[in-house]
Amino acid sequence: MSVIDAVELERAELPFLDLHGDAWRRDPWAEAKRVRESDPRGGKLAQSDRGIEILGYEEYRSVTADRRLEALHATHWEDQGAGPMTLDFLDNGHLLTFEPERHIRVRRIMTAAFRLSDIQNQQVWFHELASRLIDEFAAAAQCDLVADFSHKYSIAIICRMIGVPPEDIPVFEHATLEMAHLNAFPLAPVADRLESALKTIWGYSEEIVARRRAQPEQDFISGMIAAQETEGRLSAQETVWAVANLLFAGHDTTRYQLASAVRALVDAGAWEDLAAHPELAPAAVEEAIRLFPVVHLTSRVVKPEDYVLDGILLPPGTLLRANWFAFNRDPDRFEDPDRLDLRRGDFGDRVPFGVGIHKCLGHALARADIEIALNELTGRLADARIAGEVTMQPVTGGMGGPKNMPIAFRER
Ligand code: HEM
Repeated sequence: MSVIDAVELERAELPFLDLHGDAWRRDPWAEAKRVRESDPRGGKLAQSDRGIEILGYEEYRSVTADRRLEALHATHWEDQGAGPMTLDFLDNGHLLTFEPERHIRVRRIMTAAFRLSDIQNQQVWFHELASRLIDEFAAAAQCDLVADFSHKYSIAIICRMIGVPPEDIPVFEHATLEMAHLNAFPLAPVADRLESALKTIWGYSEEIVARRRAQPEQDFISGMIAAQETEGRLSAQETVWAVANLLFAGHDTTRYQLASAVRALVDAGAWEDLAAHPELAPAAVEEAIRLFPVVHLTSRVVKPEDYVLDGILLPPGTLLRANWFAFNRDPDRFEDPDRLDLRRGDFGDRVPFGVGIHKCLGHALARADIEIALNELTGRLADARIAGEVTMQPVTGGMGGPKNMPIAFRER
């Protein structure tokens, strides 16, 4: 639609999505659906106190792929009370907040750690790791899927991929989980926790970089040091932050997403189906992220003067908030959107790891390791069921999933 035909934002009468109300906290999917259905304009956008919420699937795709829009800058966190360490990370380590030229330079170097061939070479080890972890609880016929499996599995994998020795994991494994608060809204109540987590992660990353500087190895960290020291393509600070960034971006995401995938399969009665058809694991990952995404929120800022979305003229500076609870269940894109269906088969335009220049750096790794874990779990454990209360991260945190998840099963 052209700018001339577009409606101005004040006159658009968008529905309001209350992100602090009980309805949202209890069941964000149901609340998003209620708001969508209450809107005579079609329910693709809503207003909230953090900006314009994107509820439509096509709207999400077009916003995120549009290079005229920018990701949030560090000033956004500063305005909300972020501390100095958090701001340093946002300025010098967070790919998502970098201006385009710096983003391309740093991302290109970091991508080297996640070559498809390296991921493929590690797959046997991923299977062995999953199998070893299952050995520890299989005979007990029960476990906490998060504490006993997804937590240990995800952090061991990201550490192996980047060259962090497993015996160092206890130093930072709790701090990496605190990073889930980075996109919390409001931020102020968790700002101190973020600061302290980032100090721990920075401190460890600085130390391991120094160790590899003294004695290089064939790993990602040594590769980053070479890019800095010999090629001058990174600053010393960017080098340390790159390690730090991957330590947490690769840990809590997979930890929560894997647990949510297990729960989704159990709840939908699809566990035995996947056990009988392991080739459906890629579909299980797609459906789990669609229905229960670990990332709850991604953001962009309007820059052009003439930016029109869903027939509405949005002024420069408008905060666009992609609402992952909502757009992944857009009924115009997915038939029977609340149902997990391993045979949907329409994966062509799916966006579980984002789209455009900020598409997840770890997407191939995350897909591979979650698929392998699901195959190992369904292959070894029969009749899995949720066997106690599941505690969830608050849905206002920006990302999350089950904090603990007791399951019971029978060993096959
Ligand atoms: C199931 C697991 C994961 C999911 C669902 C996920 C999802 C996402 C999404 C949706 C984005 C895009 C954010 C945006 O557009 O604003 C993203 C970015 C990112 N992810 Fe992941 N992620 C996962 C695992 C990982 C892993 C394992 C790593 C590390 C190896 C990782 C590292 C990153 C990084 C560094 C970015 C920023 C990329 C950039 O700005 O260029 N993620 N992720």
